[in-house]
Amino acid sequence: MNDRFHCFPEPEALVQAAVADFLALLNACDGECHIALAGGNTPRRFYTALAEAGAGRDWSAVHFWFGDERAVSHDHPDSNFRMARESLLGPLAIPAERIHPMPVPDPVLPVSLDAAARDYEAELRRFLSETADGWPRFDLILLGMGEDGHTASLFPGTAALEEAHRAVVPVHVASRNAWRLTLTLPVINAARHVWVMVTGSAKAPALQRFRSRLEPALPIQRVQPAGGCDWYVDAAAMGGDCP
Ligand code: 6PG
Repeated sequence: MNDRFHCFPEPEALVQAAVADFLALLNACDGECHIALAGGNTPRRFYTALAEAGAGRDWSAVHFWFGDERAVSHDHPDSNFRMARESLLGPLAIPAERIHPMPVPDPVLPVSLDAAARDYEAELRRFLSETADGWPRFDLILLGMGEDGHTASLFPGTAALEEAHRAVVPVHVASRNAWRLTLTLPVINAARHVWVMVTGSAKAPALQRFRSRLEPALPIQRVQPAGGCDWYVDAAAMGGDCP
């Protein structure tokens, strides 16, 4: 495992460091920069801090994508797109042509969600360069981790976790009785950079299990990009103290 852990005593210190690292990564982007945003609650503060710190920056080379999406309207409180629009994309006034939300059909039917996944993959392939083995390559994919070790919408026991041919698939999360769309492991592992942002004591058991490499592997353990992941964690998620 060639992951790098960046541990901070409090979430705010983590956010400020991640903002600085993110802006440095953008400066190193050659040409267009394609970023996949994480959903959930953890990244919201990071996004608002990034919008504040990046207010005067030229964002014209940056395209924003999504690592996963809940199968709800983009105005629904659970929508990852809505969260990113409110906290980052709106405040930075990113134009629509550089924002790529995952399309959510209405009504949500398996067949239409599958078509939406295929449409998103086609859009990815129109914009992103590909790796030697044919996967669209993000410059950065931001991820979170659930208490069960899921990431994006790759939940334990789901077929999405085993997908080896498609970059984007629909997934039914039985434990939540909910449909989602998600990037798959091959495209996550093809990214130039992968960051995993985890805070809070509720995540400590899963993070400890990840670090001890226990079997069966948690979904997050299967995120193994060539360059390793950068973890941004607070002391609470590390069991109370940074190592
Ligand atoms: C989502 C995310 C998901 C998230 C984890 C952690 O759509 O929910 O993509 O993978 O990162 O569930 O969520 P929290 O940050 O809310 O704990």
